[in-house]
Amino acid sequence: MKKVRVEELVEGDRILKLDVDWIDPRYLKKNIIVDSALKKKLIDHGLKYVYISDKYDEFEPEIEDLESFSFKTIYDNPKIYIQSVAVVKAVFNAILDKKSVNLEAINKVVDKVVEVTVKDNRPLVYLTKIHNYSEYLYHHSVNVSIYAAAIGKLLNMNLRDLRTLTFSGIVHDIGKLFIPKEILNKPGKLTASEYDVVKKHPELGTEFLKRLNINGVELKMVLEHHERADGSGYPKGLNDDEISVYGKIGAICDVFDAITSDRVYKNAKNPNDAIKEMASMSGKTLNKTIFEYFVTSIGLFPVGTLVLLNTNEIGVVCGQNKMPMEPIVIVFLRSDGRKIPPMLVDLSKKSIAKRKILKAVDYPINKVPKDVINILDKIYEKTIA
Ligand SMILES: [Fe+2]
Ligand SMILES: [Fe+2]
Repeated sequence: MKKVRVEELVEGDRILKLDVDWIDPRYLKKNIIVDSALKKKLIDHGLKYVYISDKYDEFEPEIEDLESFSFKTIYDNPKIYIQSVAVVKAVFNAILDKKSVNLEAINKVVDKVVEVTVKDNRPLVYLTKIHNYSEYLYHHSVNVSIYAAAIGKLLNMNLRDLRTLTFSGIVHDIGKLFIPKEILNKPGKLTASEYDVVKKHPELGTEFLKRLNINGVELKMVLEHHERADGSGYPKGLNDDEISVYGKIGAICDVFDAITSDRVYKNAKNPNDAIKEMASMSGKTLNKTIFEYFVTSIGLFPVGTLVLLNTNEIGVVCGQNKMPMEPIVIVFLRSDGRKIPPMLVDLSKKSIAKRKILKAVDYPINKVPKDVINILDKIYEKTIA
């Protein structure tokens, strides 16, 4: 499922969900196919966004039986990513329904993320930002775990620590399940007392996990991911030397994913702008060393960043090499809007065209044509062959 502007709908798109709940439900049934009359109606109603299906829905399963869940598609990274999100969603929903907590299913996701990351962390990192995902908490939880594992790998952590980072990434915001939805999804600015409620989630999550007999270092990131190196964070206002490495890693992964995600109250920023914004926090609110490792692991122009080249072409970053300013891109558009056949270019390699990145652009990621996404998927499809 991906979020698109109503003006950008094309005939044949399948609408799965509206971005509002105030509209009369009889007026728009689920799974309706777009035609020009419907598009006009939606525009006339002042609707800005809708969620349409994309090819990822084909394997976005509602996990029906968590007990028997296993990754059947072990050679396909996009599926591993989507199934991981589906497991997190199913486990979190079971918690909301006061049913039993399936830690075993979460551990299967942890094992798989660690397994892929140890081999090559790029396939999962690229999947975190290639779409605008609609269900923030589940994707965010998986994304933070993927980034955390990638940093842990660069820090040469052992397998046990990588598992800890990945597990705590998945559950770092679990305390949000106990915060009223009206506050969490409020489109406008929170009042001071509402913000105080939100600020309880690290402690609520920690208490919840303790009741499940999770008492070890897995709790560090859950409790400390909103602590800040200069002591300005919460819940305890710890200083940099009092925050554990898990808390420092959690903070950086959490901030990056939040800045680069669409939320009810803001649009996503491109990953390169997020890195720039975070560079100004590095050494102040965020730990400098861990931030540098983070940038090394995802690049200055992270995979999924749209870039304008000196040749007036627009491309999407699809891979890193040793040159942080010269990643591998798929060029697919001219800056005047003319489409060109997608072309894979390693900017670090000498060529006659001498392509260079001028800047990252805010071209919406969900406007990247399907054939370009297909190329990206092909590149990262298999790592565990
Ligand atoms: Fe949080
Ligand atoms: Fe978070």
